[in-house]
Amino acid sequence: MQITVVDHPLLKAKMTRLRDINTDCATFRRTIGEVAMLLTFEAAAGIPMEECQVTTPLCETTGSRIHGTVNVIPILRAGLGFMEGVLTVLPEANVGHIGMSRNETTLEPMEYYCKLPKDLDAYTIVVDPMLATGGSAVAAVDQLKKRGLKNICFMCLVAAPEGVLKLNAAHPDVKIYAAALDDHLNEKGYIVPGLGDAGDRIFGTL
Ligand code: PRP
Ligand code: URA
Repeated sequence: MQITVVDHPLLKAKMTRLRDINTDCATFRRTIGEVAMLLTFEAAAGIPMEECQVTTPLCETTGSRIHGTVNVIPILRAGLGFMEGVLTVLPEANVGHIGMSRNETTLEPMEYYCKLPKDLDAYTIVVDPMLATGGSAVAAVDQLKKRGLKNICFMCLVAAPEGVLKLNAAHPDVKIYAAALDDHLNEKGYIVPGLGDAGDRIFGTL
């Protein structure tokens, strides 16, 4: 199984708050933004860099800057919950959107929207809080590659082993970054222990 589970005390504490059924919507939303910031540092490790010259108050020295652009693509709707945090860390990123809805009975994903950034060669971070069966992530990456994106990684809060294996098998080139790798899926396709329905908890819906 190929996945990077980011191991940091702050992330662990924030994940516990997100898992808690008693965490209210405002706290959930704020915390997911904080976790997104921390995860983005890790997911951005693969960004192409280039050397540049910089003048400090004392002298000239060599520094680094991002080479080219970075794309961030949230999978609607729950991926939107990540965006404030991601863009705090990567304010220059271009943002695309892909809408995927998982049928609650068949668990099959259906695409309902897609608008991509201009630069198809850019380093692209696809974000969605939950990687459960992996159906939505695989379908989203299938579509993004079909439309020309090449250099893709996937960032989530919680992954289930089933989803990791499915995404690894379909797209071995796509690195996965997560704050937690959970135990299993239940009979309804929810991650256990998980945190429930991420979209509903972010937006306060049923
Ligand atoms: C959730 C989640 C993922 C998907 C994960 O979205 O945000 O996109 O389920 O499940 P999977 O790995 O089994 O495909 P959902 O379809 O509930 O839509 P939402 O974001 O609008 O809540
Ligand atoms: N989607 C969610 O929001 N939560 C899960 O546990 C599984 C899929």
